[in-house]
Amino acid sequence: MHALQSAGIRPVLLWFVLAGTACRAISDTAAGASPMKCEPFGTAPSGESVELITLTNAHGVELRAMTYGAIIVSLKVPDRTGATGDVVLGYDSLAGYVSSSPYFGAVVGRYGNRIANGRFTLDGKSYTLAVNNGPNALHGGLKGFDKVVWSADTAHTARGSKVTFRYESKDGEEGYPGTLATSVSYTLTDANEVEIAYVATTDKTTPLNLTQHSYFNLAGRGDILGHVLTLAADRYTPVDTTLIPSGTLAPVAGTPFDFTAPHAIGERINADHQQIRFGGGYDHNFVLTRPDTGLALAAVLKERSSGRTLEVRTTEPGVQFYSGNFLDGTLTGKGRQVYQRRSGLCLETQHFPNSPNQASFPSTILRPGETYRSRTVWKFWAE
Ligand code: BGC
Repeated sequence: MHALQSAGIRPVLLWFVLAGTACRAISDTAAGASPMKCEPFGTAPSGESVELITLTNAHGVELRAMTYGAIIVSLKVPDRTGATGDVVLGYDSLAGYVSSSPYFGAVVGRYGNRIANGRFTLDGKSYTLAVNNGPNALHGGLKGFDKVVWSADTAHTARGSKVTFRYESKDGEEGYPGTLATSVSYTLTDANEVEIAYVATTDKTTPLNLTQHSYFNLAGRGDILGHVLTLAADRYTPVDTTLIPSGTLAPVAGTPFDFTAPHAIGERINADHQQIRFGGGYDHNFVLTRPDTGLALAAVLKERSSGRTLEVRTTEPGVQFYSGNFLDGTLTGKGRQVYQRRSGLCLETQHFPNSPNQASFPSTILRPGETYRSRTVWKFWAE
């Protein structure tokens, strides 16, 4: 790219040359913009070709995301010495994601998290979803948003380079009502932030709960038990044995769920506490203590050996903290790393699980004429 640029080819033309027709650059700027790249990344089971988009910023942060599942394939951020390392779990190629992935890096939808017994009633009509997690529906069904091919557009914006993925989910897809036009964009800023923005509209009333399911490991290896976590949540939603919330918002104070002050994740993960037993560790929705409906702090995650720190802010009311309890050494990911139990953790900003069946929870219902908007920002630095 640099060789071509120095040969006098303008970036906008260069983009076209590199991208061909598969990825569309919707705008571009000339000098000063961080490079973006779009390249083929294989063929999905549907026969559709999959593209991989690379965004970079001025500090060497690099985000790669693909059109299959709008999956973040890698995210390289500096440690305290300036050395970049990949902080998300996943695979080197598309094949791994297609054959067996516990939602590594994916956008999950139409309903992220669980719906009890795969059933809900909306405006007097009952809907039945595929049950794919014990007795419950999880993460959008058998072929959720993590397993479909999205279209991609790229742009240089005032905030940074950006990729926008779009997917139209058909009326009745996976049992959900209404044709849903969905977009999710990832913007990589020069402040070392990844801003995730979701927009959706529907032509029939539907539940909707989108989230990003990246598994973080800020050391890039080993387990996450030594990572130190703070959550801006003084309550959480206790669950039954199938991880469906009872409906109460319980105080975290005096329990292993109190992350209002920083705690190593491993410190209380094996505590003799019913909710820890039900989750096999942490697999719970935390109720964010937020001043208003704007972007508010959800979590801070620190890893001592690298100094890497991740701060999560969101417009969502909750965050599912999942400590990778179901990883069990059977998946071999990037760089031949075997993903053992708790080798990554998810901080899934979202509405609460099973909200369509819990009138007291914030509503996840989107009606025709309304626009769903949700934003989450991950900011990285090293200490
Ligand atoms: C859920 C876990 C589940 C994981 C992968 C998380 O969002 O809370 O229970 O195992 O996703 O499917």
